[in-house]
Amino acid sequence: MLSMVDLNVRYPPAAGGSDRVTHALYDVSLDIDTGSFVAIVGPSGCGKTTLLNVVAGLVKPSSGTAVLDGERITGPGASRAVVFQHASLFPWRTVLDNVVFGAEVQRLGNRRQRKEKARALIEMVGLSGTENKRPFQLSGGMRQRINLARALMLEPQVLLMDEPFASLDAHTRRLMQEELLGIWERVKATTLFITHDISEALYLADTVYVMSPSPGRIIGRLDISLDRPRPEDARTDTRMAQWERRIDHAIRSGGRADADEHAIDATHV
Ligand SMILES: Nc1ncnc2c1ncn2[C@@H]1O[C@H](COP(=O)(O)OP(=O)(O)OP(=O)(O)O)[C@@H](O)[C@H]1O
Ligand SMILES: [Mg+2]
Repeated sequence: MLSMVDLNVRYPPAAGGSDRVTHALYDVSLDIDTGSFVAIVGPSGCGKTTLLNVVAGLVKPSSGTAVLDGERITGPGASRAVVFQHASLFPWRTVLDNVVFGAEVQRLGNRRQRKEKARALIEMVGLSGTENKRPFQLSGGMRQRINLARALMLEPQVLLMDEPFASLDAHTRRLMQEELLGIWERVKATTLFITHDISEALYLADTVYVMSPSPGRIIGRLDISLDRPRPEDARTDTRMAQWERRIDHAIRSGGRADADEHAIDATHV
């Protein structure tokens, strides 16, 4: 279980600047079941990346805690791997050496074992044959697949994805969503996926949480009762449009009290 308990994050103003403290997260509490796929949607600047960074151990909460399987998260660790929006591959390394990187740093296994595992993961993300290429020789979609393979190399318990498909064209994006679900079913990592795209969240996740504009609070939760593995016609399921409207409304109302009649939670679906 991954839990966030009353998380608050306040960023101090930049040194010498005249801006104020930014209250990025406000009393965020969430419980994410082991092995489940959770998506978070919310307007730009509402604190989604901040939330993900707290779980990654890259941002220290001002108050509250993030807890993974009973252990408080106090910094980065191999139990949690991040896939960022922009593929953060090393341009001078080959694809294979990029995938191997994290395991190399953590000294997991020996050289041969690491390469073997990296090759298997490159195959899993559908890119066998690219091992000796450099990132610049790959398309954006291919780079994100390699980024995913690199994250999976550490066999993380939790996979953190921050708008990983945002820069892809619509067709590649759908393809990547389908492949991600196939991979998720195999690796069974608890997945926290951040996106602006409501239909992407609905298609991928077991549960979608909605955040309010800054300071980010959780203002809605929707459990998605589509089958697993997702049926081929999941995207055109008649419930999709209704869920999309509910989430869209929750985002627009920003959690205002007068929007209560449209509030979403698990019991409404
Ligand atoms: N390192 C930082 N120092 C100061 N303020 C920050 C820092 N990182 C984020 N912020 C501020 O905190 C708030 C939340 O930012 P965050 O990046 O978490 O939002 P987001 O929901 O991921 O936005 P987007 O959808 O645009 O990626 C914003 O007001 C942002 O300016
Ligand atoms: Mg962000």
